[in-house]
Amino acid sequence: MGHRIMVKMVGITKKFPGVTANKDVNLEVRAGEIHALLGENGAGKSTLMNILTGLYKADKGQIFIKGNPVNFKSPKDAIASGIGMIHQHFRLVGPLTVAENVILGSTTSSFWLNKAKINKTIQEISKQYGLEVDPKAKIWQLSVGEQQRVEIVKILYRGSDILILDEPTAVLTPQESRDLFTTLRKMADSGKAVIVITHKMQEVLDMADRVTVLRSGQSIATLEKNRTNKEELAQLMVGHDILEDRSQKIAHKPTPIIKLENIRALNDKGLPGLTDINLQINAGEILGVAGVAGNGQRELVEVITGLRSITQGRILIDGQDFTGFPPKKFIAAGISHVPEDRLGMGLVPNLSAVDNVMLKKYNDKGQKGWFLKYAPVRKETETMVEAFNVKLSSIDSPVKLMSGGNLQKLLLAREISTNPRLIAAVYPVRGLDIGATESVRSLLLAQRNAGAGVLLISEDLDEILHLSDRIIVLFEGKIMGEESPLNATKERLGFLMTGIDNFQEGQAS
Ligand SMILES: Nc1ncnc2c1ncn2[C@@H]1O[C@H](COP(=O)(O)OP(=O)(O)O)[C@@H](O)[C@H]1O
Ligand SMILES: [Mg+2]
Repeated sequence: MGHRIMVKMVGITKKFPGVTANKDVNLEVRAGEIHALLGENGAGKSTLMNILTGLYKADKGQIFIKGNPVNFKSPKDAIASGIGMIHQHFRLVGPLTVAENVILGSTTSSFWLNKAKINKTIQEISKQYGLEVDPKAKIWQLSVGEQQRVEIVKILYRGSDILILDEPTAVLTPQESRDLFTTLRKMADSGKAVIVITHKMQEVLDMADRVTVLRSGQSIATLEKNRTNKEELAQLMVGHDILEDRSQKIAHKPTPIIKLENIRALNDKGLPGLTDINLQINAGEILGVAGVAGNGQRELVEVITGLRSITQGRILIDGQDFTGFPPKKFIAAGISHVPEDRLGMGLVPNLSAVDNVMLKKYNDKGQKGWFLKYAPVRKETETMVEAFNVKLSSIDSPVKLMSGGNLQKLLLAREISTNPRLIAAVYPVRGLDIGATESVRSLLLAQRNAGAGVLLISEDLDEILHLSDRIIVLFEGKIMGEESPLNATKERLGFLMTGIDNFQEGQAS
């Protein structure tokens, strides 16, 4: 048995002054399905649906409803074809009752003649689809969720069998959203075609049967929900620019650089600093560590760089047991450290840039023998300063005279010049201005794209979400959870950071 095609839009193009909102868009929606229209803000979703509902006229393209070509002159024509849309901003009349609003604009019912009958029909619709509304209530008395239910009842009352909802969950609580999805499923099961506009991938996975992705006004793909996933949807939605690195980084077979197994370590006060830490950092990924400072971040980095001894567990680098090895061995294995305290642990304030670079070279193969070879390091420092755009008066002046941003760039340059396999970066942009922040972030991303693993400790959730491939949250020395930046919200991370892991999205608002 074939699927009954309720909506077919072919080659739809719509231009507004200065912007092509829809370009050659194709969409096909079947009876009995919930079809998500997914895209970022400005992708052209609302425009496409406004065309389908007769609000706008397409410059080009054709629309077929239930197999028949249509040419809507106004929303009235679309309504007559069975199309009903619930807009982002409801169009209800506050002082009127639910029942009055439901029949408003309806040509078939005269309210004053059929009041009892209308109320009864509304109650039947409410019951059938799980849309609790009181026909006699005034709109202004209702919550936003209830008003949305009135809008849905209204288009069902008109007998619409093609229902369009524009970002319906934007105004709903999580519970109301779940109830809405149940209602939508009932509508689809009764043979209607349901189109839901959204920019949230999780929603698509939660409620849709199929999804059409729009990007920059174009229809990119139509997929079965069961045959796709968040990563693919994100990639289709955003395009390749950001996502190429992203998909590349989430390598199909992650190659672990370092593995921590069941680690425990004490903090400086001799109290438990890390408890039962299990984690792995892979080549070509940034592992973001979110958390309020003082929840084990420092201890974690020091364990990973060999600076802090552990009281339990194992540290594996490339599968080899490094437990108990001195920091020197970690450095030799390509583990690099960009510490929180740049002038202190990172760089020696009274030494020059050249001498600071030199410090990290004494173990190099090219530096055998009693005396360090100064000239090549001098040359290398000059190259670094140039490549990383470090501003300093002279590479021979004490580094304590440099600004924070330039210090950080020099430090990163020195660490990166050792071709590290893993960079543990602790609050790498703290105290930097916007320009320096951006360059430090792109340096880290470039390292990741070149195949290094990066451990990024940060308190800035935007930074974590923007840069990370995976995110863990530390709380009181434990890993509270791991999140993908594609799913994680600041709200969820925020909860984990305070030690709460059983909350519902939206609970805080
Ligand atoms: N009435 C309009 N006049 C001018 N430009 C518009 C109008 N409606 C939408 N646009 C533009 O068309 C593009 C697509 O918008 P829209 O369809 O609202 O996207 P979405 O619903 O996916 O966020 C945007 O660039 C938007 O600014
Ligand atoms: Mg929109």
